[in-house]
Amino acid sequence: MGETFYITTPIYYVNDVPHIGHAYTTVAADVAARYHRLKGEDTYFLTGTDEHGGKVAATAAANGMDPQAWTDHISQRFREVWPRLDIANDDFIRTTEERHIKPVQAFLQHLYDKGEIYEGEYEGPYCQSCEAFYKDSELVDGGCPVHKRPVERLKERNYFFRLSAQADWLLNEYYARTPCPVQPESRLNECVAFIKSGLQDVSISRPSLEWGIPLPWDPKHVIYVWIEALQNYITALGYPDGEKFARYWPAVHLVGKEIVRFHAVIWPAMLHAAGVEPPKTIFGHGWLLVGGEKMSKTNLTGIHPFELVDAFGVDAYRYYFLREVAFGQDGSFSWESMEARYTSELANGIGNLASRVAAMIASYFDGAVPAPSGAETDLDAGLAAVCASSVRDYMDSMDALAFHQALEAVDKIVRRANGYIVETAPWVIAKDPDQRDRLARVLYGSAETLRILAVLLSPFMPGACERLWGMLGVAAPLGAQRLPEAGAWGGLTPGATVTKGEPLFPRLDFT
Ligand code: MSP
Repeated sequence: MGETFYITTPIYYVNDVPHIGHAYTTVAADVAARYHRLKGEDTYFLTGTDEHGGKVAATAAANGMDPQAWTDHISQRFREVWPRLDIANDDFIRTTEERHIKPVQAFLQHLYDKGEIYEGEYEGPYCQSCEAFYKDSELVDGGCPVHKRPVERLKERNYFFRLSAQADWLLNEYYARTPCPVQPESRLNECVAFIKSGLQDVSISRPSLEWGIPLPWDPKHVIYVWIEALQNYITALGYPDGEKFARYWPAVHLVGKEIVRFHAVIWPAMLHAAGVEPPKTIFGHGWLLVGGEKMSKTNLTGIHPFELVDAFGVDAYRYYFLREVAFGQDGSFSWESMEARYTSELANGIGNLASRVAAMIASYFDGAVPAPSGAETDLDAGLAAVCASSVRDYMDSMDALAFHQALEAVDKIVRRANGYIVETAPWVIAKDPDQRDRLARVLYGSAETLRILAVLLSPFMPGACERLWGMLGVAAPLGAQRLPEAGAWGGLTPGATVTKGEPLFPRLDFT
């Protein structure tokens, strides 16, 4: 069997409609999934909604709705947004589904039977927006360190998972694996510091809540929402004995940095205690900031993706965030910077390159890709060399989830190709009938560069790349291309019919 690749997003709380922060992770996961499909790997991409817990119950009540009706309504809002962002997920899990509830109960029963869960008392701070227990020492000015809002003080009889018993395994075995499962390194360091400051057992049940999954051995308690939500990554695959579980697990989890601790400490520890392989990778990316703060509903700064998609189109939307913000770091974004990148890199960059090349092939060669004839010059070799080295940089970066670096490598090709056209000046050569071979080589090279660009950019901008592929008249479908072969120079067949068509990225007009 070939390589498999399983990637997940967090499952989003249904306390509010999606905003561009949720879309950031989902687009990144989709780009990674499409890239791994492009490499020919058997790829599975999961997203979904997290529907239990006090926060969701409270939001439903505030909206005068029963929690199930509320979650049905908001979950639908997530499901309708993803197709419009060209998200090609293989599954969408909801934690109120039977296929989640039953295996969650079985998993916890298994841990309970193994003595990994015991009954005790919890007293301390709890942030409902995070649905997280904190230590007093972690509070900032007495409030939640993420939301900067007051916390509740809980005192409850709970069941606890023996997380403390896993500290040694986490630090000395799991995190010591090569490559390290927790990325980037700053996130690993946070987890190490957290564990070394004294890992405490974690509460896994809430006696005072109703909106949740009952504990199988004590149904007066519901399972603490995080403990069951994390399991979506395996229940969606049909854990414990589903064919997909055997085929795809373990996963690469993309998560925002505020929930790395759940994914990189509690989740692997629970899996390990249950005798299940822990995740392959947990990548904690940064936040999209508005006014220096995390963009969120709580901060009243949530922006719906459609506001930007309507203005810039879905391809530019997907491209912009992964180009603008180094994946792993926080980043601010603005309408102005999105407009600037759209114009310089998409409309004037690749868009202009494509229309120029198509127009020249139309007028000088009746729209048929010419065969590269005549001698190769240093300029020609230089263009092919930039493509070859950029394809390598692109693949290394994509393998490392460094989307911004991959797009930098792509941009290098676009800049070189535009330079190549200026330096070779086909419109000058075209006037000299003795330079027909030279003209053919220059335009073949330019069109071939576009073909490589269409392949490399297809995970980021699937729609625009399909249109570019159509312009180039390549017989084999874009979806059938495979890296690294499709990135090698010379794939374009002479004679293919190039059509100019509509601009890939029309100029923006907000008047
Ligand atoms: N339900 C939990 C996750 C459970 S996973 C087993 C949760 N949900 S959430 O709706 O709050 O979504 C949080 C995730 O949305 C973040 O981890 C991140 O992936 C994404 N983002 C939400 N706001 C964001 C920004 N402002 N910037 C970047 N990503 C953001 O936590």
